[in-house]
Amino acid sequence: MMCLPASPPAPALRLGLGLFVLLCLGIGQAMEKKVVRSKVGEKVSLPCCHRIPSSESLHTYRVYWQKNITEVVLAYSEGNMISRHERYQNRTEMDPWNLTLWISPMEILDNGSYKCIVQRNSIVVCDQSVILFVTADFSKPNITAEVTADSCDVTEMVITCSSHGGFPKPKISGALNNMSVEWNANWVSESSFSPYNVTGKLLLNVTKDVDITCSVEYNGFSKSTSLLIKKTNDCVVPPVPPPYNVITASIIIVITFILATTLAARYLSRHVCSHCCKHQDSVEDGVKEYTKAPMSSKGTADTSSV
Ligand SMILES: *[C@@H]1O[C@H](CO)[C@@H](O)[C@H](O)[C@H]1NC(C)=O
Ligand SMILES: *[C@@H]1O[C@H](CO)[C@@H](O)[C@H](O)[C@H]1NC(C)=O
Ligand SMILES: *[C@@H]1O[C@H](CO)[C@@H](O)[C@H](O)[C@H]1NC(C)=O
Ligand SMILES: *[C@@H]1O[C@H](CO)[C@@H](O)[C@H](O)[C@H]1NC(C)=O
Ligand SMILES: *[C@@H]1O[C@H](CO)[C@@H](O)[C@H](O)[C@H]1NC(C)=O
Ligand SMILES: *[C@@H]1O[C@H](CO)[C@@H](O)[C@H](O)[C@H]1NC(C)=O
Ligand SMILES: *[C@@H]1O[C@H](CO)[C@@H](O)[C@H](O)[C@H]1NC(C)=O
Ligand SMILES: *[C@@H]1O[C@H](CO)[C@@H](O)[C@H](O)[C@H]1NC(C)=O
Repeated sequence: MMCLPASPPAPALRLGLGLFVLLCLGIGQAMEKKVVRSKVGEKVSLPCCHRIPSSESLHTYRVYWQKNITEVVLAYSEGNMISRHERYQNRTEMDPWNLTLWISPMEILDNGSYKCIVQRNSIVVCDQSVILFVTADFSKPNITAEVTADSCDVTEMVITCSSHGGFPKPKISGALNNMSVEWNANWVSESSFSPYNVTGKLLLNVTKDVDITCSVEYNGFSKSTSLLIKKTNDCVVPPVPPPYNVITASIIIVITFILATTLAARYLSRHVCSHCCKHQDSVEDGVKEYTKAPMSSKGTADTSSV
């Protein structure tokens, strides 16, 4: 890798941002690109490729941190900051020994490809590419169900899943009782470097209770929500338990009936049978005699035989 100043060096450097940019003519990939992932609002560190030995200092170096070849994020020469991009003002710091670039708080626009170039006495010591992926978290998906038609057999509904405020553009996926389903997805964003809102819609004919899941995936992250959708109108009249007063009334009626029959029986037995009681008694006695006699004889017979 060979890097050349894009314009005449030293004095002219203060004239404009473009002058700081170094053109690097790649002769093969000198250094492996590093990948850094970060979330909006966080503090991120982008590693450089050189550590200044303690015998030296930043004063003998020139360091460029640039983004996407075209803009200088931060540059140091002879120990002084010689450039800082407006968008990065008050958000960047560089470690004076290992030349790590710190950015805080992270913004969506910071996403991109960075490069650190270290020169000592106008000779390039090393350069390092760092790819920064910026992510913003999506809100937990919100699932709502709107019934559009309802009959005994089937409930037709529109299921909507929405999530907002994330980056980059997400994927939205779904499952219906663990079977994957496609959402009819719609994304909204002010620009390709603004947060996204995503909405998925699904038309569903529900014949029984179903479990629906909505997942939003972005940069390897995922957020999901599940909702149990109940078949609302199933037209089967469930066996309604009788109200308490009905139960009480039936109990009272039954008890009254039992009492009435008992009393009636007693009354009748006194009045109707008063004249035949003697006869009945004698018959009963006779029966008793008759039944007792064989019992006792049998009992004695058994015991005697033992
Ligand atoms: C650079 O130094 C800072 C301390 O200022 C440390 O936190 C960071 O891990 C170092 N980075 C590398 C790549 O050595
Ligand atoms: C660099 O920036 C230009 C213009 O801003 C853009 O067209 C290009 O895609 C960017 N390249 C990378 C690698 O981000
Ligand atoms: C950076 O901070 C200084 C002082 O703290 C302030 O005056 C300036 O407006 C800030 N710049 C930006 C771009 O926030
Ligand atoms: C973020 O930057 C990387 C590296 O340039 C690029 O590959 C990626 O597409 C960018 N992401 C977005 C959402 O633009
Ligand atoms: C989900 O969406 C519904 C309808 O748009 C809304 O009333 C409700 O507040 C939302 N819930 C959450 C947690 O955002
Ligand atoms: C779906 O799958 C998960 C695990 O794979 C299981 O725990 C769950 O019971 C399944 N649900 C249904 C409705 O099959
Ligand atoms: C995304 O949704 C949020 C919250 O619902 C809203 O405030 C914002 O305006 C929406 N953004 C776009 C680009 O529609
Ligand atoms: C749901 O049922 C209606 C008729 O009852 C039919 O027109 C519609 O296509 C069905 N939708 C789905 C998603 O099966």
